[in-house]
Amino acid sequence: MASKTVVIDPVTRIEGHAKISIFLNDTGEVDDARFHVVEYRGFEKFCEGRPFTEMAGITARICGICPTSHQLAAAKAGDKILAVNIPKAADKLRRMMNLGQITQSHALSFFHLSSPDFLLGWDSDPAKRNVFGLIAENPDLARAGIRLRQFGQTVIEILGGQKIHAPWAVPGGVRSPITAEGKTWIRDRLPESFATVDLALSLFKNLLDTQLQDEVQIFGEFPSLFMGLVGKNGEWEHHGGHLRFTDSQGNIVADNKSEDDYQEFLGEAVESWSYLKSPYYKPWGYPNGIYRVGPLARLNVCDHIGTEAADRELQEFRQRAGRIATSSFLYHYARLIEILACLEQIQKLLDDPDIKASRIRVQGGVNQLEGVGVSEAPRGTLFHHYQVDENGLLQKVNLIIATGQNNLAMNKTVAQIAKHYIHNSEIPEGFLNRVEAGIRCFDPCLSCSTHAAGQMPLHIQLVAADGTIVKEVYRN
Ligand code: MG
Ligand code: NI
Repeated sequence: MASKTVVIDPVTRIEGHAKISIFLNDTGEVDDARFHVVEYRGFEKFCEGRPFTEMAGITARICGICPTSHQLAAAKAGDKILAVNIPKAADKLRRMMNLGQITQSHALSFFHLSSPDFLLGWDSDPAKRNVFGLIAENPDLARAGIRLRQFGQTVIEILGGQKIHAPWAVPGGVRSPITAEGKTWIRDRLPESFATVDLALSLFKNLLDTQLQDEVQIFGEFPSLFMGLVGKNGEWEHHGGHLRFTDSQGNIVADNKSEDDYQEFLGEAVESWSYLKSPYYKPWGYPNGIYRVGPLARLNVCDHIGTEAADRELQEFRQRAGRIATSSFLYHYARLIEILACLEQIQKLLDDPDIKASRIRVQGGVNQLEGVGVSEAPRGTLFHHYQVDENGLLQKVNLIIATGQNNLAMNKTVAQIAKHYIHNSEIPEGFLNRVEAGIRCFDPCLSCSTHAAGQMPLHIQLVAADGTIVKEVYRN
């Protein structure tokens, strides 16, 4: 059998790794593609028997990349088990932490992981097509991007304390208020952060006008549903509100959905080829109920953002992409607009008298045996669902993570890129980088998806119509 292994350089800019199979038809053209996640550590099972109050503290074991997002969702699920409304100050401080988390994660995705492709060129030397290459080529932009990420990380540290993995958001509220010095630091650093996101937005819009038209067409352009949280006036929301589904024509398909009822409208399909479950919108069935979550979805489902500068950018975004942006490549653009929204909301929260309150936590016991917490993680909607016994010991845990919800969309994106570039069973030069970039539009966290701490190798297989492997590419 003519199976061939090509080893290429070990550079990767996806958080974690996976395997991609590309299926060819009998003329050697691409039929379909699958993005497999091949490792699973059963985190949900691992939690059974532990007190639900520990969940916020062990979130770093769910994912070392997004522990903050898991901590916030865990705290919300915990509030439900206590059956309490948390103090306003606690809610607003949690929101501030989530805004810091979205900012730092989006800055990492845009400046460190993705912009080297746009700014240095898809086919530039892979050894230089990374943040170090960017520093050499455009030191001001690279430095600004690094500092913007640092800003978001510092907001999280100011609130949560310096100790790594210390659970700050807990069932009933948060452990400590924000200090005056912390507020001053954030306030002082905001103008620079606004300037950086402005710079990145003009740069990206200019690239869209001059050279990224093909990517917009090829990197995951297709209709689907979109899901995200929206506030009570239809505004952009990240930690509260209700769930909304919108289709590609802009019709609101479902609205005012509570996370408590997620099993009524979300199905979780299991495929033999992946440990990553594929959630879908239940009324539309599988796989018709494919939906996308994350920055693009949040901008699509909301009526408006609710802050001045971000709303101006949203208006321009919609002029360019239509009321509903269907190209997954525009996740990058959406991410920048969301950073702007986060900075504006952080600024508003700093001036909010509510966050000065010292009462920030409700004490309580087990008052309900079940709770679902939902929060918008940078990558998309995150659900934590717990069932406990009378003593608060976890009987069942279900996590629905963003990367799982985007699984079907990532498959479609990989298939679209493969169809464009692969012909006659040949993997052309530069293909691997493009397919990786296609996946990177979604900024997946494979660590979250598998609840695995380690890294998995990216592995691409070309599978012929008769099932034989024509070609394999590995990247460690
Ligand atoms: Mg699950
Ligand atoms: Ni993660």
